Amino acid sequence: MLPQKDLVSLRGLSKDEILFILDTASEMKRKIDNPSERDNSLQSVSVATLFYENSTRTKMSFLMAGSYLGATIHDLGVSTSSAQKGERLVETGENLDQMGIGIMIIRHQQTGAPHLLAKRVKASVINAGDGTNEHPTQALLDLMTIRERYDDFKGLKVVILGDISHSRVARSNAFGLTTLGASVTLAGPATLVSANMQALGVSVTNNISRAVAGADVVMGLRIQFERDKAAAFPTLREYSDLFGITEEVLEAAKPRALVMHPGPINRGVELSVDVIDGKRSVIYQQVKNGVAVRMALLKILSDKRLL
Ligand code: CP
Repeated sequence: MLPQKDLVSLRGLSKDEILFILDTASEMKRKIDNPSERDNSLQSVSVATLFYENSTRTKMSFLMAGSYLGATIHDLGVSTSSAQKGERLVETGENLDQMGIGIMIIRHQQTGAPHLLAKRVKASVINAGDGTNEHPTQALLDLMTIRERYDDFKGLKVVILGDISHSRVARSNAFGLTTLGASVTLAGPATLVSANMQALGVSVTNNISRAVAGADVVMGLRIQFERDKAAAFPTLREYSDLFGITEEVLEAAKPRALVMHPGPINRGVELSVDVIDGKRSVIYQQVKNGVAVRMALLKILSDKRLL
C-alpha cells in the first residue's frame, strides 16, 4: 500500500514501497501474457491522460494498462483542448474532477506541474514526466527490468550515460536505485553532467571508460535536442566517438551487463546499432515492463481510492 493518493516522484518512497510496486507489476505482467487471467477490476474507474508533451511509449502503455484492467480511459487531446485557449492546468484538472475522473496521468514541460495538479484535484495524479525533473514510472520500469536479471540491488553498479542535465529519467533512477542499495554513476560530457548531481548520492564522471569498468548495468540516455538548442558538443559524430556506447566500450563492463535505454533512441549516437540490437540489450523488455508497471500503479492507486 502507498501512503499517498498520488505518484509524482520516487524521491521519498521507501524501499518497501518501491518493492511493493515492483511485486505488483510482476503479477500484472502475467496478465499481459495470459489474456484469460485479465479481470475487469477497474471497471468503475475513469482515467484521463493529459499529455502536454509528445510521447509514444508512456502514453500508449498507460492506455493499454487501463484497458487490460477494464478501466475507462480517455485522452484529453491537449492540442485540441481548451488549453489552446489559455485555460490553466489547475482549471482543466478541476473540470475533469467534476466529470468523475479518478486518476489523471500528466506529462508536462514544466517542472512541478504534476505536484501542483495533485494538490488541487481530488483525483489521484501520476507523473508521466515533468520537464527535466522526474519520470518516476520510467524509473520503476527500469528497476523492474534490472530486478528480472539480478535478485538484489545491493552492490550493483549502474552507469547512466549521456544527456544527464536534461534527464528526468536519470533523476528518478538515481532516487530509486540508491534507495534500493545500488551504486549509481552518472557520466557524460562536462556540458551535460554537472558535479552538483553528487548531491543525489551518486558518483559523477566525464570519463566513460572509468564509468563503465565493472558495471552491471549500462543505461544510455537520449540527447534531448528539443530542450536546448545551444550545442553542448561540436558535432554528433564527435559525441558518438567520445561518449557513444559501443561493443568496444562494453568490454570493460561485466560480461552479463545489461544495456538499457528509455527511448526514443538516436540510433548510432547514444548507442551503436549493433549494441541496440545486441545480446545484452533489454530495451524491448523495458517497453513491455512499462505496461506492467503502469497497470500496477493504476491498480494500487485505484484500490486505495475504492477503500
Ligand atoms: N521513455 C519515454 O518516456 O518514451 P516516450 O517519450 O515515448 O513516452
